[in-house]
Amino acid sequence: MTKKLFEPYKLKNITLKNRIVMAPMCMYSSHNEDGKVENWHKTHYTSRAVGGVGLIIQEATSVTPQGRISPQDLGIWSDDHIEGLTELVSLIKEQGAMTGIQLAHAGRKAVLEGEILAPSAIPFNDKMKTPKEMSLGDIKETVQAFKDGAIRAKKAGFDVIEIHAAHGYLINEFLSPLSNKRSDEYGGSAENRYRFLKEIIGETKTVWDGPLLVRVSAKDYQNDGLDLEDYIEISKWMKAQGVDLIDVSSGAVVPAQIPVYPGYQVKLAEGIKHGADIPTGAVGLITTGIQAEEILQNERADLILLARELLRDPYWPRTAAIELQTELESPEQYSRAWN
Ligand SMILES: Cc1cc2nc3c(=O)[nH]c(=O)nc-3n(C[C@H](O)[C@H](O)[C@H](O)COP(=O)(O)O)c2cc1C
Repeated sequence: MTKKLFEPYKLKNITLKNRIVMAPMCMYSSHNEDGKVENWHKTHYTSRAVGGVGLIIQEATSVTPQGRISPQDLGIWSDDHIEGLTELVSLIKEQGAMTGIQLAHAGRKAVLEGEILAPSAIPFNDKMKTPKEMSLGDIKETVQAFKDGAIRAKKAGFDVIEIHAAHGYLINEFLSPLSNKRSDEYGGSAENRYRFLKEIIGETKTVWDGPLLVRVSAKDYQNDGLDLEDYIEISKWMKAQGVDLIDVSSGAVVPAQIPVYPGYQVKLAEGIKHGADIPTGAVGLITTGIQAEEILQNERADLILLARELLRDPYWPRTAAIELQTELESPEQYSRAWN
């Protein structure tokens, strides 16, 4: 039987050479605190491209300076960022991987000097800053910042854009009733809490015609929070807006305990895939080729995202191929050692 993990995957107008995706992971390595690409990023991402990953999604990259999680985050809030990102994209592509970027805003989870923003003036926990409740003007500016980020991502040559709507960052804060207590058209009903993301998707699509992914936290792990059924509805709305794939994570909008075990979020990816009839990516403690292949063969998700395992093993595609007893083409330079 052919191994699905190594079959090409058509994502809108591009084709990934396999189903292996590097999940976005903040490197906090913009040491000059200007959001720019540094040598670390070039080495780190190209290593995984050499290792055979089909799509590399660059870490959460902030669309505004105060949307960074930390001062060392990568940024895309200025045209000055385009040059470094263009070089990074071209280096990754040279090694045969497709490139994606995760556009992000940290909202109330920003650990920065100065004012931080959120839908409501409620801190994440008692150790973090109380954010400012966003005015309608702040909301409009932030939607525009995502759109501008998409324009710059396109100029830099990325193949895929992923909007970060997970892990308790700004967009997730609007979606969840636990963090959104607004009484205007951006709060209250599910449709109202979706409005901010709806506008970001809508504006992004006016400037970006490539594959558009959205990462969600499909479960809040708290009473009165959102759960899979809510995200199936939200995913139907995203599908209607032309989103191509939902990258399904969970948690972190409030400090709730998450029960983790191998593949703990796969059932959420499966639920959204079948419930909303939209392709999904599965992520979270997927570490072996057999695990990945089971998810794909049983049509529980369409893509496999790996984070920490790819930090431990940049050549994970080769590791998985050996485990699944299938061949994986080596980089020419490594052919004496690969199979
Ligand atoms: C160092 C590190 C940085 C991360 N940064 C991001 C990020 O920028 N954006 C995001 O959506 N998730 C981020 N995550 C979460 C991962 O993408 C992934 O969802 C999570 O680690 C679970 O997958 P894993 O078990 O394969 O590591 C990060 C995880 C790690 C370990």
